[in-house]
Amino acid sequence: MDHLTVVDHPLVQHKLTLMRQTDTSTGEFRRLLREISQLLAYEITRELPMTTKRISTPMMEMDAPALAGRKLALVSILRAGNGLLDGMLELIPSARVGFVGLYRDEETLEPVQYYFKAPSELDERMVIAVDPMLATGNSSAAAIDLLKEAGATNIRFLCLLAAPEGVAHMKEAHPDVPIVTASLDDKLNEKGYIMPGLGDAGDRMFGTK
Ligand code: URA
Repeated sequence: MDHLTVVDHPLVQHKLTLMRQTDTSTGEFRRLLREISQLLAYEITRELPMTTKRISTPMMEMDAPALAGRKLALVSILRAGNGLLDGMLELIPSARVGFVGLYRDEETLEPVQYYFKAPSELDERMVIAVDPMLATGNSSAAAIDLLKEAGATNIRFLCLLAAPEGVAHMKEAHPDVPIVTASLDDKLNEKGYIMPGLGDAGDRMFGTK
């Protein structure tokens, strides 16, 4: 898979436009995020290993395609990652789930871990880390560091929007981790927000300020 895949499907792009708009309500934002997460999940799981299993249809037996290997692991980068996680779990209900919590140290500006819980046998699973906004890439790269320390070797990163700065940071820190996104936006502003973006994804999906 390429390092960066922008999913330019008309449904994704239309839903993303609705999400960007200031007057889109919290409930609508959450619903759209869930829908887009499923369309992005479809793209990022294209290379899941396959096998066949013998089944009986009402007509005859056949060797039918089925997913092979361990269940995949979805890892939400808290808290906004949960908005993507919910939709993806509807599509992949048997996935294992992990969580990474990071906050930014006000003095060093470095991400600090406050929570980490990952599924077992991480080295045998495709691991998809999810966070709607790839902005500076600091927390995303730190989350991937933690997943690698926990044994993950086959990691992908799924986000809704990416800034060129974040993509460059991830390419430098984790060139082996393909990124799938709905849009590569223009840039970051001086406060680290993606432009044109959609504002604070966590606040918009949870109705906080
Ligand atoms: N996180 C957000 O929620 N929004 C941005 O624009 C950047 C980071």
